[in-house]
Amino acid sequence: MRTLSRLFANNRAWSESMLRGDPEFFRRLLNQQRPEYLWIGCADSRVPANQIVGLLPGDLFVHRNVANIVVEGDINCLSVLQYAVDVLRVRHVIVCGHYGCGGVGAALRGDKLGLADQWLDHVAKIRDKNRDQLDHLPTEKDRHDRLCELNVIEQVSNVCRTPIIREAWARSQPVSVHGWIYSLEDGLLRDMNMCVTETDELRDRYEAARQTRPVAKA
Ligand code: CO
Repeated sequence: MRTLSRLFANNRAWSESMLRGDPEFFRRLLNQQRPEYLWIGCADSRVPANQIVGLLPGDLFVHRNVANIVVEGDINCLSVLQYAVDVLRVRHVIVCGHYGCGGVGAALRGDKLGLADQWLDHVAKIRDKNRDQLDHLPTEKDRHDRLCELNVIEQVSNVCRTPIIREAWARSQPVSVHGWIYSLEDGLLRDMNMCVTETDELRDRYEAARQTRPVAKA
């Protein structure tokens, strides 16, 4: 099977259904994109960004990697962030983790996967930093869930500390950074209560998010 014809058939059907709903849909998007949101999420196939939040092509700028990690020196992620903030002028940056994340689980257990270990070491450091909090949880699943949450909190903080976001705030460009977590069990997002809109808010929001657990919104 060299052509993956099922996917091409799906694509044709999708394109036709979009045009049935809105004959101008693709033509309108041709000239420019004006997304309001940048999504930084996990590469996991079960967490498809647009579908989860019900947004169409053109609405969401997306970067995904294993375990939704944002680190200094990752030219790929930082280029996406820079383009989204400086050129597209998105209003919101959303870091969305998910429970049951395989990458976070591997970091929690210290599994040896190969090349990915080096990447997941960023999460292993978060595990080590939060040893006390994690060790107090009764089950492996609880520790896994909590490390998924703590990872989101750290990555939101990392986004806020980039020169890209700091400089946007310094010139009063309105951009909010949000931390969310998605449950594979019910398909619902939970807010990590870590929405940061300016440099001075980061410290308090970070500490507050670390003291609480997220709940699904009504
Ligand atoms: Co994941």
